[in-house]
Amino acid sequence: MGKLWIPVCAALQIILAVSGSNICTSRGVGTCKECLSINPTCAWCSQKDIGQGGSSISRCNLKQILLQSGCQAEFIESPFSSMTVEEERPLSNKAGGSTSDITQIHPQKIHLTLRPDDSKRFTVTIRQVADYPVDLYYLMDLSYSMKDDLLKLHSLGKDLAEAMGLTTSNLKMGFGAFVDKTISPYMYMYPPEAVKNPCYGINKVCQAQFGYKNVLSLTDQVDRFTEEVKKQEVSRNKDSPEGGLDAVLQAAVCHDKIGWRRDASHLLVFTTDATTHTALDGRIAGIVQPNDGQCHVDEDNTYDKTTVLDYPSIAMLTDKLSENNINLIFAVTNDVMPLYLNYSKLIPGTTVGKLSSDSSNVIQLILEAYANIRSKAELDVLGLPEELSLSFNATCLNGELIPGVRSCSGLKIGDTVSFSVEVKLRTCPKDKTRTFVIKPLGFKDTLQVTVDFACDCACQGSAQPASPTCQGNGTLDCGMCLCEAGRVGPHCECTEGEYKPTEANHCSPVPQAPVCSGRGDCVCGQCSCHASDFGKVWGKYCECDDFNCIRSRGLLCSSHGECVCSFCQCSPEWSGESCNCSTRTDTCMASMGLLCSGRGQCVCGVCQCTQPGAYGATCEKCPTCPDSCTIKKDCVECKHYKRGPLFEKKSCSTICRDEIQLVDELVFHEKSAVNCTYKDEDDCVHHFQYYEDISGKSILYYVKEPECPKGPDILVVMAYVTGSILLLGLAALLIWKLLITIHDRREFAKFEEERAKAKWEAANNPLYRGATTTFTNVTYSGNS
Ligand SMILES: *[C@@H]1O[C@H](CO)[C@@H](O)[C@H](O)[C@H]1NC(C)=O
Ligand SMILES: *[C@@H]1O[C@H](CO)[C@@H](O)[C@H](O)[C@H]1NC(C)=O
Ligand SMILES: *[C@@H]1O[C@H](CO)[C@@H](O)[C@H](O)[C@H]1NC(C)=O
Ligand SMILES: *[C@@H]1O[C@H](CO)[C@@H](O)[C@H](O)[C@H]1NC(C)=O
Ligand SMILES: *[C@@H]1O[C@H](CO)[C@@H](O)[C@H](O)[C@H]1NC(C)=O
Repeated sequence: MGKLWIPVCAALQIILAVSGSNICTSRGVGTCKECLSINPTCAWCSQKDIGQGGSSISRCNLKQILLQSGCQAEFIESPFSSMTVEEERPLSNKAGGSTSDITQIHPQKIHLTLRPDDSKRFTVTIRQVADYPVDLYYLMDLSYSMKDDLLKLHSLGKDLAEAMGLTTSNLKMGFGAFVDKTISPYMYMYPPEAVKNPCYGINKVCQAQFGYKNVLSLTDQVDRFTEEVKKQEVSRNKDSPEGGLDAVLQAAVCHDKIGWRRDASHLLVFTTDATTHTALDGRIAGIVQPNDGQCHVDEDNTYDKTTVLDYPSIAMLTDKLSENNINLIFAVTNDVMPLYLNYSKLIPGTTVGKLSSDSSNVIQLILEAYANIRSKAELDVLGLPEELSLSFNATCLNGELIPGVRSCSGLKIGDTVSFSVEVKLRTCPKDKTRTFVIKPLGFKDTLQVTVDFACDCACQGSAQPASPTCQGNGTLDCGMCLCEAGRVGPHCECTEGEYKPTEANHCSPVPQAPVCSGRGDCVCGQCSCHASDFGKVWGKYCECDDFNCIRSRGLLCSSHGECVCSFCQCSPEWSGESCNCSTRTDTCMASMGLLCSGRGQCVCGVCQCTQPGAYGATCEKCPTCPDSCTIKKDCVECKHYKRGPLFEKKSCSTICRDEIQLVDELVFHEKSAVNCTYKDEDDCVHHFQYYEDISGKSILYYVKEPECPKGPDILVVMAYVTGSILLLGLAALLIWKLLITIHDRREFAKFEEERAKAKWEAANNPLYRGATTTFTNVTYSGNS
């Protein structure tokens, strides 16, 4: 990235330089300090006279421009941002021995020098090999039902210390207890004895009811814990839910009373077997004032606002727990688990464990919750000056970069993770140096970062009051005159009378525009333009120069004109924005007498061929265009025969400037002469030769007699045709006659055959009838 950045940067600076103004000169800066804060690329020249030939350039500029303008290197103020790693012991491989010589963060000390608006980046590596210190505060419900749990707790301190000792060597334990608000209806008020001994009703003796008590602040003396727990007695309240959330809030916000350490894991174990009151429940006791989230534990280590403030809401609890980095562990009995599981969903970072009825498994619960917390590495920043801003990217276990994140989770002992940190100086603070610390939460090890603010210029120390350069009326500071009251101008040469403040507007065309277009100083109400290596800068607002005109092929105004106030003024015969367009047309004239051979247009003195396939300076070359024979054919037709398309269009004399010479036959004239042949409508073949001499005069040598085909003999053709028709008709008749005859013969043969087959018996012949006919007269009876 760095390697790429440098050339890009350099290129950018050059572009800026060429364009005449740059980020450093774009703002009218007055002092060296202001100049440095514009941009990390800006430098200040504190030399008395800068610029060549008496004209000045802006003192606040890119470094190489200052050097080019004759500012000596020793007068250039341009501090660099830098970074040195001052201490980098390698990370420890494993824990062991005393924790003091274990290194879990790398590096350990970094020194930065930062210019305003500049940043530096470094990588912090973390390997967890040693202990987190652990603060464990045990908050216990002392209502009557917890009587058996209290007995178990007598040995809790020792056992817990032993079990935690396996994972941390730096454990502090504390103890607190709660019952509920000491007000009816939560408390037994009657008979009056019950106030002192709430167990009066059940013929037992127990502790008077209380809201919340901090019994033992965090301590590393395990014996004290055991001792204090042993002294505890249960109490008794009236309703089933308890006031535990009051206790959790107080334990979270009273860091001094409880003794939470800043750089330790904070475990708050909350044990109960009952449900709990939350915000607004106080109303049944007439408490309407909402919880204020403040610590109200008095010298007696008791919560003294228990009857004044309502219970805290879950939202307030969530805020306060995360504000104080407290991990709450709900160790609750089975029957109330669902409720606390619901709460833990609302309060991030909370765990819920099932407490056996006598709290015997509480140690296991705490160990699990702690292991969970410990698997996380998170960077914390202490004492960051507000002028600096930090940004982080994490590279956790899978090696993937997670932008904007400063924690990794799922770690085991010995795992290494790294964070990329960028420190940026936004504005300049008053002090010159500040130190801040980056550390992983819960680790002792820290990375100390010292930042020097490179906001000031070295030349500021050697200011020269009443300097002659400032006409004796100002202090010469970093090459600039700081004028005394009443004097103005770069050398304090004007009095205020000559230069009214409103005249500042005279140095820019509109009030928002940069003074003198950013290319000059406003001197006593008038622009004094800076000199430029590229040419003159002038104009009322230094808006004009003679080097910022359009270039064509790298030449200013194509070197066919002058650059005047950013516009090209072209010499005669040239036109266009960059004077690259010739107004001449003779360069387009083709040898055949047409602009661009009639195949294109003359644009800026150059032919642009429009006929497809045409090329050449005058479009004279065109293999796919109609050739010269085709063109000249029409000329022969129109000139000699007064016919053809050109004749009809009456353009013969304009297009055909050729002289026509009639010849008997073609002879050799020159190699460039073209022999052409064409056939006209009457099939006559014409021959001519097209010849152009050096002067461009073209001659068409035309062979007088075209070769026309001889007309054919009509009679012969007619006889031929008639004969052919007769012959064909005769042949057709003959064939028809032949076919008919064959057909008749076949039919007759068939008939004969049929007749031979039909040798019928006369009787059987259905067609035969006897020749005699018999009649029977029915009325005839004979002679008798
Ligand atoms: C827990 O929350 C669920 C749904 O969010 C609800 O149905 C259930 O009654 C809640 N349990 C208790 C004990 O409040
Ligand atoms: C974090 O990563 C982003 C790109 O993912 C990059 O732009 C940024 O500069 C990085 N910041 C640091 C502090 O490394
Ligand atoms: C300073 O300014 C005053 C007018 O304000 C002028 O008379 C005087 O000559 C200047 N120079 C010195 C050296 O005082
Ligand atoms: C003249 O220069 C312009 C750019 O400034 C360019 O677009 C144009 O093609 C040039 N014309 C000629 C004839 O070179
Ligand atoms: C044109 O014809 C003449 C006569 O036939 C001949 O001498 C000459 O070489 C021909 N020219 C070309 C270019 O063929």
